[in-house]
Amino acid sequence: MLQAKPLRSSSTGALAGTIRVPGDKSISHRSLMLGAVAVGETVIHGLLEGEDVLNTAAAMRLLGAQAERGGDGVWRVRGVGLGGLGEPAQVLDMGNSGTAARLLMGLVASHPITCVFTGDASLNKRPMARVTGPLEQMGARFVGRSGGRLPLAVVGSDRTVPITYRLPVASAQVKSAVILCGLNTAGTTTVIEAEPTRDHTELMLRHFGAIVTTERMEDGALAVSVVGQPELTGREIVVPADPSSAAFPAVAALLRPGSELLLPGVGMNPRRTGLYDTLVEMGANIAFENRRDEAGEPVADLRVKHGPLKGIVVPADRAPSMIDEYPILAAAAACAEGTTVMLGLKELRVKESDRLAMVADGLTKCGVKVEVGADDSLTVYGTGKPPQGGATVATAMDHRIAMSFLVLGMATAEPVQVDDGAFIDTSFPGFVALMNGVGAKIAGV
Ligand code: S3P
Repeated sequence: MLQAKPLRSSSTGALAGTIRVPGDKSISHRSLMLGAVAVGETVIHGLLEGEDVLNTAAAMRLLGAQAERGGDGVWRVRGVGLGGLGEPAQVLDMGNSGTAARLLMGLVASHPITCVFTGDASLNKRPMARVTGPLEQMGARFVGRSGGRLPLAVVGSDRTVPITYRLPVASAQVKSAVILCGLNTAGTTTVIEAEPTRDHTELMLRHFGAIVTTERMEDGALAVSVVGQPELTGREIVVPADPSSAAFPAVAALLRPGSELLLPGVGMNPRRTGLYDTLVEMGANIAFENRRDEAGEPVADLRVKHGPLKGIVVPADRAPSMIDEYPILAAAAACAEGTTVMLGLKELRVKESDRLAMVADGLTKCGVKVEVGADDSLTVYGTGKPPQGGATVATAMDHRIAMSFLVLGMATAEPVQVDDGAFIDTSFPGFVALMNGVGAKIAGV
């Protein structure tokens, strides 16, 4: 259990400089998992060394792979080959990470081993039936708490069968769990998604040598198929800076007059960039410089300058491409001129916290008028100037709630305090030092 770490953020002047945002969390998890089931060595450059990903590395070691940090920040994974994961002698503790738990449940389900998964108080509340359901159809068995929650045991099988599964919720985690189980299942496993979610699993599987196809169906949905039991070979991977983490310094620069920040090498996969599209629609001054491809993922250097923002309507179909960015968008909307309406936020209720409730409560405490709709929408009434602040906001073990309110506190009339910043290390180690390095005033309380 991490010790609670209250933090306070006070109003700043102009922010200036360069922030090297740590590696993408989604890509980092996947690189360790696929490296662990490939033959030979995978070398990962720029792995996110946050708690969530370190838990994945530890789990892959318990499953038999080698995963070690090189002195130069480079990680080397020596895989066991597809189908070669061994039964772990200990419980797999995935900490705060839903991605690690759900993807790994899929990966181990097609092995004849039993694994017990647990997590922290936040993860152990989150719904797992969304992955155990399809994995049971493929032949794995699960014994968990009510609602299929962790702690939970997976009894895997080496006789899993391929399925065609239509996602009931837009979730890359569920899609990936089914695909990763299909990876070691003879035949072709297909996941149909009505709304495109992040495709890092598909891109990286191809990079490792698997056959993954994507086909558009008559109704517009995407059918993603993996041909089971390919030979995966170790690869070189370059992890881009995480666009979800870059969102925090980017919004901070937008809010503080005179600011200009450069954020190099940020991942620009179109299934992840909904926040940036939204900010540009709100009038944000963001230049996407030096666009290029790095190891199969598009990246750009972001140059963000302060400027006024105006309220807009964010359509529900944009949610999958910015699902983790609503808390920081809400902070930006609180300082914008006019009303911002965010539609289709039901999934926010089952993230590291109930983010819809936490954002609405926190903003209200900071003097912002907000409304949560019965349709899980969030309306933020901006006044064109930063709100009063002067409140302590609850974070409920949620890194992104903590960072969002610390960014808001950089603009508010009075400081904003968060009750616990310890969980920031799950996704953005060094956040406070990096932000203070460009002019933020965030300090322990
Ligand atoms: C992730 C998918 C998203 C996102 C999470 C990371 C991934 O979850 O919220 O932080 O790496 O696949 P869902 O796919 O469940 O929406």
